[in-house]
Amino acid sequence: MSRRIAVFGTGYLGATHAACMAELGHDVLGVDVDAAKLAKLEAGEVPFYEPGLEEVLKRNLANGRLRFTSSYEAAADFADVHFIGVGTPQRKGEFAADLTYVDSVIETLAPLLTQPAVIFGKSTVPVGTAHRLGERARMLAPAGDAVELAWNPEFLREGYAVKDTLHPDRLVLGIDRARPGNAEAVARDVYEDLLGEGIPFIVTDLATSELVKTAANAFLATKISYINAMAEVCEAAGADVSVLADAIGHDARIGRRFLNAGIGFGGGCLPKDIRAFMARAGEIGADEALTFLREVDNINMRRRTRMVELVRDIVGGSLLGTRVAVLGAAFKPDSDDVRDSPALNIAGQIQLQGASVSVYDPKAMENSRKIFPTLEYSTSAKEACQGADVTLVLTEWEEFRALIPEDLDSVVRNRRIVDGRNCLNPGTWENSNWTYRGLGR
Ligand code: UDX
Repeated sequence: MSRRIAVFGTGYLGATHAACMAELGHDVLGVDVDAAKLAKLEAGEVPFYEPGLEEVLKRNLANGRLRFTSSYEAAADFADVHFIGVGTPQRKGEFAADLTYVDSVIETLAPLLTQPAVIFGKSTVPVGTAHRLGERARMLAPAGDAVELAWNPEFLREGYAVKDTLHPDRLVLGIDRARPGNAEAVARDVYEDLLGEGIPFIVTDLATSELVKTAANAFLATKISYINAMAEVCEAAGADVSVLADAIGHDARIGRRFLNAGIGFGGGCLPKDIRAFMARAGEIGADEALTFLREVDNINMRRRTRMVELVRDIVGGSLLGTRVAVLGAAFKPDSDDVRDSPALNIAGQIQLQGASVSVYDPKAMENSRKIFPTLEYSTSAKEACQGADVTLVLTEWEEFRALIPEDLDSVVRNRRIVDGRNCLNPGTWENSNWTYRGLGR
């Protein structure tokens, strides 16, 4: 059955969710406080790079199922299903999550709810948040106990956001066990098509649903840091971590995915989520359970310093006065997101040690300039490599994986390449008289 849905927040998560809910046949209102963002979306323009999202957005604007507004009143009047998709960044100077935006959706929306409604939280939040928000919403809403709050965590990956929303590998719903209501039935309506495809649907309590998300991200972060720790050992032992990953990955219990060693994880989720998870565990008296995540974080951050040291060694012990080409700025390929990007962090550290650094990324140039205006930016990989003493591949865009030595032979000053994502074929470069260095191989 088609429902009337409001989605609060139009960032990576909210914009994708709003467009995809319309794609499923619902009438959707996207709500944000950022007028510039809304204007872009209304014009059919996605304010960030996400493959496939623009088509879905345009199609549903055109058929009238998707609209945008800054008015909470309009949203409360229009919809009886509300999704919260605003950000929960890391608090400045602390590990804990900043819940200002989530809180403010409830504080503004709830007083406007005069009819029965279900609010589904999608944002990643510390366990216990949903319970607190539910109490607050029922207290503020004129409809009182007829307002339900449930949690429906999102697992979408940037670069695959549309696919992950329309064809997720599972749907998780947390409901308030103490107050049986309509949330599950409403969720079944909203996701009718997906459930029809046989996508697993796990209905649980609020706390478990919140933890599913944090636990999944903590596991993924751990998997990456595990293989990066193996990379450190491989380096010390003269072994090859890529072959090691392939070999252990054949064991179905381990699996090959998320075992790519390199400069480690970044982005708007994994780093802040594991920190918020540790902080929350401390608050609820389970801090010992998650001390290992501190090590996961340490291993990950060490990758960046290790990369800088490696580059310094390769150019002869000092970066001062050298020219370094950096290919890749986004935290991963197929994204223009540079939040906590290992690539940009490394580029910045190298520049601070006296090198002149030229950066190129297929999509993340504008975002990079905003946070690192002092780096030099090029318009192509070839231009970035002009006069380079060493070339670094820091994000594994297809364009960089496909590079061959002949593309760069004529422009670089020194034939040295460092593969921060172990995404190149060493032989290809070594056979053309390049010095190739991977991480842990
Ligand atoms: C992540 C989770 O995958 C997703 O389920 C959750 O909803 C949000 O957080 P995302 O931030 O889009 O998604 O990125 P992801 O694909 O998980 O990659 C995270 C980081 O890990 C990237 O910087 C990537 O380069 C790095 N990574 C990933 C590795 O270093 N090695 C790997 O093998 C895989």
